[in-house]
Amino acid sequence: MQFLQVACFDEWRAAARTLLCNEVHPSEVHWTQDDKSPGLFDGFSQVEHAQKEDADQDTRTHTMRFNVPSAFLDLARTVACHRNPSRWQLLYQTLWRVVHGERHVLELDTDDDVHQLQRMKKAVTRDVHKMKAFVRFRKIEAGNLPEIYLAWHRPDHLIMRLAAPFFTRRFKGMSWTIFTPHESAHWDQKQLTYGPGIPASQAPPPDEQEELWKTYYASIFNPARIKLDTMKREMPVRHWRTLPEADLIEDLVRDAPARVKVMIDNHEGFSETGVHYLPEQRDLSSLRKAVGQCQACDLCHDATQAVFGVGPANASVVLVGEQPGDREDVTGTPFVGPAGQLLNAALFQAGIDRTSVYLTNVVKHFKHEQRGKRRLHKKPDSREIYACRPWLEAEISALKPKMVICLGVTAAQALMGRDFRLTQQRGVVHKTQWSTRTLATWHPAAILRMQNVQRKREMESQLIEDLRQGMETTR
Ligand code: URA
Repeated sequence: MQFLQVACFDEWRAAARTLLCNEVHPSEVHWTQDDKSPGLFDGFSQVEHAQKEDADQDTRTHTMRFNVPSAFLDLARTVACHRNPSRWQLLYQTLWRVVHGERHVLELDTDDDVHQLQRMKKAVTRDVHKMKAFVRFRKIEAGNLPEIYLAWHRPDHLIMRLAAPFFTRRFKGMSWTIFTPHESAHWDQKQLTYGPGIPASQAPPPDEQEELWKTYYASIFNPARIKLDTMKREMPVRHWRTLPEADLIEDLVRDAPARVKVMIDNHEGFSETGVHYLPEQRDLSSLRKAVGQCQACDLCHDATQAVFGVGPANASVVLVGEQPGDREDVTGTPFVGPAGQLLNAALFQAGIDRTSVYLTNVVKHFKHEQRGKRRLHKKPDSREIYACRPWLEAEISALKPKMVICLGVTAAQALMGRDFRLTQQRGVVHKTQWSTRTLATWHPAAILRMQNVQRKREMESQLIEDLRQGMETTR
């Protein structure tokens, strides 16, 4: 049995490479966590020691090359920041499998090792996200010294090196140090360096910056979305101590109902929407051109392109889906993937020529999650739907259709309100701001997902019937 102690990803990788070169099976290694801050001490301590033990082994280490997929290394780099001491073992045993004939193991979500690694990755990613959101700097001025900003934060995992580069981009023109109990990061406006951590008892003192933060937080606080349990989950109570705005929460929560009413009346509460990107001239072709520039929500960063509606400018029927899928994102055209094919078949059976209707989506960018090589669809949230609404409004104003058909519950609720229930109101024609005739029916993707064969057939015929009804009312 070999006993190895490692502190960080680089140490683990060096050790794992040596072990693989020497064909050391995972069951013959016992990994433990070295609690020193990574990079603070010289060399690789015990790992290096183990490597030096055998010069022949060392030579082999440097001459053998392993073809490890970059997806594994990315995953390992993130999982290495998890606190669970078993991560080193788990990583090595998965790496062993990858290089011993199971190269595609990461694509098996049902595999126990992969599942555990994915869960750890998720926890670390979430923790990085929280650090980006909850770090608050305090200005320190000492005599003639240049001002410096200090922050103290307690992450759940050892994420300083994953999160710090974000702060160098975000606060490029400030000198700052972020302390965590495990490690600190220092930025002097040129170089990022790491040092030891400090305990909570030595966290930087409060100062007048807090008032600024409080004013800012009070101004962005959205009482319409207040959910105390969610808030505690998103902003765990243990972070509240270092967040100046936490003092305000009680007051803001108490005043929330009255403020919600004012917000609804004023239609405020969300920050940016696509309205800032709309062109002056709002015909379909200028809208299509302009939507490519929209950055009203974050979805634009991960999508290939914005997918605008297609169809004739004089179409009397508009079909509205949820958001583009993987194929739509790549091709730039709505409803060309599997759901689009089912829709084509339903339109055909309803006696409708696809090219005579206008097809679009509530959200114009593909929201997804990367799983190995696959991009899995994720439902857009109310913030993204709200941000994208001006595009749909402009599109429908330009078209002035006689009938709008919502495909699925996301479109139905976006156009007819959050209380809309597809199971109860499917196929019923409503008068709305969008058109004097608006109805909602099944989304073709919901039909594709339906496992029960009889129910699937029933939904298919209801979709065809609703499309036919929609078309007939316009004749
Ligand atoms: N699903 C949608 O809602 N829209 C598309 O364009 C494709 C799939």
